[in-house]
Amino acid sequence: MSRDKLRRVLRSLWIGHLLGLVMVVFFVAAPRLAAAECPDIPLAVAGPMTGDSAVYGEEMRRGAQLATDDINARGGIGGCKIALMVLDDQGDPATAIAIARAFARDRIRFVVGHYNSGASVPASTIYAKNNTLMVSPASTNPALTEFKLWNVVRTAGRDDVQGTFAGEYMADHFPEGNLAIVSDGTPYGDGLANKARRALRAKGHPEKLATKIRYDQADFVDLIRKMKAAKIEVVFFAGLGSQLGPLIRQTDEAGLHAQFISGDGAMIKDLTVLAGPAVENTLIVFSPEDRSNPAAANVVTRFRSQGFEPEAYTLKSYAAVQVIARGIEMAGAQAPRLVAAAIRSGKPISTVLGDLTFDAKGDRREPDVMMYVWTKQANGGFSLEPMK
Ligand code: ALA
Repeated sequence: MSRDKLRRVLRSLWIGHLLGLVMVVFFVAAPRLAAAECPDIPLAVAGPMTGDSAVYGEEMRRGAQLATDDINARGGIGGCKIALMVLDDQGDPATAIAIARAFARDRIRFVVGHYNSGASVPASTIYAKNNTLMVSPASTNPALTEFKLWNVVRTAGRDDVQGTFAGEYMADHFPEGNLAIVSDGTPYGDGLANKARRALRAKGHPEKLATKIRYDQADFVDLIRKMKAAKIEVVFFAGLGSQLGPLIRQTDEAGLHAQFISGDGAMIKDLTVLAGPAVENTLIVFSPEDRSNPAAANVVTRFRSQGFEPEAYTLKSYAAVQVIARGIEMAGAQAPRLVAAAIRSGKPISTVLGDLTFDAKGDRREPDVMMYVWTKQANGGFSLEPMK
């Protein structure tokens, strides 16, 4: 090879090498450059993903995931994509606290969660200290917002609203019946039971029996014995559907055919599986049906096309992500304190639940509840219907 030819080959190799380098830099560095301008926004959904309450965790996960996908498909929040992670608190306060501490270390600033008030309330103070905003789709205990922390918002309602409604309903509809109030002993159950009790007393109709079970109890022989001795006809159960179902079944099998009433924690389609035919006429207090809201129509269709029925807390979880996203947009910043203040400013936020406005404590301004009843269908099955 002549010296000239060698020089030409070397030059072409050098140019090729340079071009290759530029291409590599472009393809590797371009996303990095974009990411450096607008890094992903980490957002966690935290709730009971396993265990007896996993059905509620799935609602939260599904709701948060579809909302994240939809927001990212539209370009994210000001061009930044949401990076969703799913954390399992097992419905356990100690695990929720551990998660809250881990989020602080990992600089997670936005949380959709938790489900149980018993988890949300202790976690909220840790999030507050560590600059994290939480939006609970499901925790209804008034204490969550009455601590007046800067960082709490909920798309769920409140137990003073649903407990008062339940108490007044029982006093008005079963004025002669012997009443029992049974709490699952959690902050949620105790708070809800107290509100119902107060409303009953205000109407001059105190309960005949007030008692608690353990959160993990599966056998209710002692409780049923007490209820039989007190000739109980109406039972207000303040706890979760995973316990209410077996309690209804066992009470019926023991020959006590009582009228059961419960709150939002019992809003599960599996109640009919857990309780059997004795589920008929069980009353459940919950917010008006989110799936009927015109603002949710498109999202409901897409959940159904995935083979998932978006009941109970699914759409409230979807809305929780929308509230955080809109809060960041309104604040023009990702600083959680600014985002929380923007959300609580009282300006309407458009969500699948319709336009939501929040007060200065982080509660919805338009909480509402109604009664549903488990009803026997022509095919012999049972479904939960709005009370007419
Ligand atoms: N509303 C229930 C609670 O607050 C799920 O624990």
